[in-house]
Amino acid sequence: MNILVTGGCGFIGSNFVRYWLEQHPEDRVVVYDKLTYAGRRENLQDLWDSPRLSLVVGDIGDQDLVRRTCQEQGTQLIVNFAAETHVDQSILGPLVFTDTNVRGTHVLLEVARELGIRLHHISTDEVYGHIRDGHQSVETDELSPRSPYAASKAAADQLVQAYAITYGLPVTITRGANNVGPYQYPEKAVPLFSTNAILNEPIPVYGDGLQMRDYAHVYDHCTGIETVLLKGEIGQVYNVGTGREMTNLEMVDIVLETLGKDHSLVRHVTDRPGHDRRYSMNVDKLRALGWEPKYDPRQAVAEAARWYAANQAWWEPIRSGEFREYYERQYAERLAGSGQP
Ligand code: NAD
Ligand code: TYD
Repeated sequence: MNILVTGGCGFIGSNFVRYWLEQHPEDRVVVYDKLTYAGRRENLQDLWDSPRLSLVVGDIGDQDLVRRTCQEQGTQLIVNFAAETHVDQSILGPLVFTDTNVRGTHVLLEVARELGIRLHHISTDEVYGHIRDGHQSVETDELSPRSPYAASKAAADQLVQAYAITYGLPVTITRGANNVGPYQYPEKAVPLFSTNAILNEPIPVYGDGLQMRDYAHVYDHCTGIETVLLKGEIGQVYNVGTGREMTNLEMVDIVLETLGKDHSLVRHVTDRPGHDRRYSMNVDKLRALGWEPKYDPRQAVAEAARWYAANQAWWEPIRSGEFREYYERQYAERLAGSGQP
């Protein structure tokens, strides 16, 4: 099969490409990626020589280039990971989230419709909004996004579903929990906290740190997507996570313990506006297809922290480069106001 993986140079996309090429030796993958700050060729450095992998640098909003690429490459399936993905970035500069996540996905749908290609869309548990205690989101729950990021992802989900209903386009959607693992850009909490801990820098916990997340290993997300691609019902949505959540303070403890660092690095800083208190998904629908996660959330976070300890050469250039400006903007005032050195 010929697969177009959009956003394949990002965190989850690159893990998926690596996994898919290993597991499906007959298949060819074309990565279509704009190479934003989060998209890094080096995430697949050891694989670019493979005759089964190639890269097209482009924007998913460029309809002509997407169409031409699909035609030239004989694309039979599009898996759409391409997105702006960080909630804090969506608070600082939201419009690009609409451009890529909503309009970009819409362009992919149009090309898929024109050329008759199946599209699998990667979504998130954040589209459900924050979840009251005692409930776990199921796929039929109403979407109730609360950040510009989540709203743009929810809009994309609804376009994908509208194309299935209106045009009969063969689509599937997976909604992933918070992923952790290799090659996650250090703006996200687990890699940020891990790399800060390694550098003995303060760890900025938003608010009381009692927000709850399901920290799932990216490997399990990849096997979940594979399960849906191979066995999922066309037109359906599937949640992918462990079904078990922990507080951010528990996550921080695992990171510190794994890296042998002291709790005194923790700083409680001004909370994120509109911070969702809890995400939690029921994953029985995917389990019914025979899928099971390999990692529990504690193992997933510990494994991720260990990867950052072992792969300083990957993240050091990022942290000392463009990332610094974002870090200053996002954290300087917060950390100065945390009342601790
Ligand atoms: P990421 O930010 O690490 O990577 C995003 C990739 O998309 C990058 O390679 C970037 O260059 C590319 N991209 C961005 N805009 C583009 C555009 N206009 N055209 C083409 N390429 C573009 O993201 P990630 O964490 O790997 O997330 C991948 C997908 O999974 C996203 O759709 C995200 O919403 C979803 N998701 C992420 C998580 C998580 O915890 N990270 C959880 C659930 C779902
Ligand atoms: P993040 O990785 O940004 O994922 P999301 O907001 O999409 O769930 O954050 C995970 C959790 O960690 C979330 O509750 C916000 C919190 N957080 C902090 O406390 N401090 C930080 O510096 C960051 C980036 C996140």
